[in-house]
Amino acid sequence: MGVISDHRHKGIGTRLTHAALVRAKGLGLRRVEVEVSEENHPDIGLYKSVGVKVEGRKIEAVRIGDRCINAFVMALLLRD
Ligand SMILES: CC(C)(COP(=O)(O)OP(=O)(O)OC[C@H]1O[C@@H](n2cnc3c(N)ncnc32)[C@H](O)[C@@H]1OP(=O)(O)O)[C@@H](O)C(=O)NCCC(=O)NCCS
Repeated sequence: MGVISDHRHKGIGTRLTHAALVRAKGLGLRRVEVEVSEENHPDIGLYKSVGVKVEGRKIEAVRIGDRCINAFVMALLLRD
């Protein structure tokens, strides 16, 4: 998911994420899991703001150019 930079911080990412979670629940999914670069603070903040929690940390999980970056495993259980 991405929001064009001129339109960030207006709640669009939150609304898109909520819509995806409602759809996932409607499909009967019980768990949503994401893997997020440890340096992607906007993405981590967005997921935390909708209740997605950090469950673990993968060391050097993502290579960006010459750098290997840790990643968080984050998840939300979709309960009734
Ligand atoms: C992550 C992204 C989708 C957020 O979209 P957005 O429309 O700006 O998000 P919102 O306005 O709904 O913000 C929701 C929450 O996200 C968090 N957040 C957003 N931008 C943030 C930033 N720069 N730093 C820290 N937290 C941030 C905040 O918790 C925010 O809640 P708040 O406004 O009450 O503080 C957007 O920054 C983006 O497109 N980034 C580039 C692409 C990307 O990294 N996508 C994810 C990986 S695929």
